[in-house]
Amino acid sequence: MTNGVLSYVRRLFKNPSITESDLYGSMGDFIQAEEQQRFCATCPGIALCKYKGLRWSVSAKKIFGRKIIVAELGKCVNRERKSRQRKMERLIRASKIPKAMKRCTFDTFITTGDPMIRTAKGLAMASVEDGASIILGGGTGVGKTHLAIAMVQETVSRGREALFVPVVDLLDEIRSGYDEGTADAIQEAVKEADCVALDDLGAQRSTSWVSERLFSVIDARYRLGKQTVITTNACSMSQLEKMLGERGARIVSRLTEMAQPLFIKARDFRTRKNVQQRLPVGK
Ligand SMILES: Nc1ncnc2c1ncn2[C@@H]1O[C@H](COP(=O)(O)OP(=O)(O)O)[C@@H](O)[C@H]1O
Ligand SMILES: [Mg+2]
Repeated sequence: MTNGVLSYVRRLFKNPSITESDLYGSMGDFIQAEEQQRFCATCPGIALCKYKGLRWSVSAKKIFGRKIIVAELGKCVNRERKSRQRKMERLIRASKIPKAMKRCTFDTFITTGDPMIRTAKGLAMASVEDGASIILGGGTGVGKTHLAIAMVQETVSRGREALFVPVVDLLDEIRSGYDEGTADAIQEAVKEADCVALDDLGAQRSTSWVSERLFSVIDARYRLGKQTVITTNACSMSQLEKMLGERGARIVSRLTEMAQPLFIKARDFRTRKNVQQRLPVGK
């Protein structure tokens, strides 16, 4: 048995002078590794794998200056791929992006002709790269929500947890969660996710309770230093402050410290699009 293992390891490292004393750990592990390589050579796929995607791998390591050979159990490439895919699917489900909005990506965001729209897209893409927080303000239809969703989808595709949260829905969920005892869990999730896009801040009716809840979420993200993306119909920070009611000044003060604002002045994309479609080709 040991001879079989030795010749397997020698072949693996193309080194005929390896001896049993170079092998570190249980001989049983090396025997398993040798047996398994034959099975894996004709991989039947993860569904039919008798090792359930766990694989012994043999590698060389250096410990205290001495080179040793170890056999370790880990996930095989197929199982790794499957776990990555599962994680991605879980993140996508958790990101709460409505089905109809899945099409909102950076690829589908058109910037032709309008420098302000190009700047907005550039800022959104850069924030995905460096994890910075941003505020996208401006009139209806300029693409704020599209960019926020694109940011969340891109962040998720990089394996990070990101949530798209319409502010009005968040407040409804917290309100109805009080009866079911889930209000705290909802708020915790929104406070702690790696990246959260709060869509349409200021669109809600600003009661004292609403103002308090919003401050609590934004203040927590500020203190945790987490990436936060805000969209709002407000065209300036002072307008946003007024829209947020009682705690408006405190919320805006936090936002000013944590995020870079961009107030987009452009026409509603839907009317712009009609104009573009009517332009002759090449214009
Ligand atoms: N630059 C753009 N490229 C492609 N589609 C866009 C662009 N800007 C807006 N849209 C589309 O127009 C619609 C309104 O945009 P939305 O992001 O909801 O605007 P806002 O949130 O600023 O009110 C959406 O369907 C969105 O996908
Ligand atoms: Mg919007």
